[in-house]
Amino acid sequence: MAVTLLAGLVLAGCAGDAEPGATGAPEATSGESGTAGGSVEWRIALNQTADHPITVSVQGMADRVNELTEGRVDIEVFPNESLGAQAEALQLVADGTIELAIISGPQLENMNTDFLVFNLPLVFDDIDHQMSVVNDDEIVGDLYASLEDRNVSVLGAYTAGDRNIYTTDKPIVTPADTAGLKIRVQESETHLKMIELMGGSPTPMAFGEVYTALQSGVLDGAENNEVSYVSQRHVEVAPYFSYTRHLIVPDYLVASTSSLDELSAEDRAIFDEEFLASVEEQVALWATATDEAIAAMEEAGVEFSDVDTSLFADAIAPLVDSSLTSDNARAIYDATRAAAA
Ligand code: GCU
Repeated sequence: MAVTLLAGLVLAGCAGDAEPGATGAPEATSGESGTAGGSVEWRIALNQTADHPITVSVQGMADRVNELTEGRVDIEVFPNESLGAQAEALQLVADGTIELAIISGPQLENMNTDFLVFNLPLVFDDIDHQMSVVNDDEIVGDLYASLEDRNVSVLGAYTAGDRNIYTTDKPIVTPADTAGLKIRVQESETHLKMIELMGGSPTPMAFGEVYTALQSGVLDGAENNEVSYVSQRHVEVAPYFSYTRHLIVPDYLVASTSSLDELSAEDRAIFDEEFLASVEEQVALWATATDEAIAAMEEAGVEFSDVDTSLFADAIAPLVDSSLTSDNARAIYDATRAAAA
């Protein structure tokens, strides 16, 4: 039984060339985990393609951890939603069925609303500001530990760049241009309200379904960074790209708390160190990947609109105060803004 399940997972892991969104969720854990200090086989679920900067950085982390622990911590990387879309992957981590996943901010907001702070527009000035906050234990320590009673440890975050609106039929230049358009958002209240404030009709949807929905007309647009726009091939079906720069959202590394507890102190230290190294690597790769994506967009004949971003910022600014309803969320927001250069 265990062998069959493992074989299924390995096959799913070969999905590097699969269509974005191809899924094949695991049915159960491989049952390889042992007592603290023993050997473990871990799986990490991502919704990105194999060559996306986060996948590349996570693969580097996995390779180094495997080598430095002499195989005691053996991490296998599963890109392309091959273990499920993010909502499912997060549930699998909470269940202890898989050990690690990369999960975008909006999904964590659904487990503890205080996470919405980092999903708000205008909270981060730029990627440097974001990265100086999302791995600063003083600001995020309690927040990241807050899901442990549900078996989810948030270990830190990578950047997912700044997000922009793109559409199938006409360019978006002002917020009013979104009126009547179905714009895909990640599955969170904050992002639903954000598109409503612009004037559009938000449609929450898993990442891997967006391409087909844009292609078939179920969606009129979506919002994302350039790298995902190209790697998910949305560029083929939504050729109007407007630089609204309305959000900079983190991608978190989450772990099953019970799995982390199985590591010896030495292996845990190696894992933590290599995770932080992978964050540095990812931020460096991000800049290059963004330039490459822009070149691919130019090549594909995308119509770029350099919009007045303040119009979008003004339209969605009310979201900040209306969302910061707990003292915790307000304190994290204030600390984040205080860390801006
Ligand atoms: C980005 C982000 C992902 C997220 C995706 C989305 O690609 O890195 O974590 O899932 O956007 O829009 O769903």
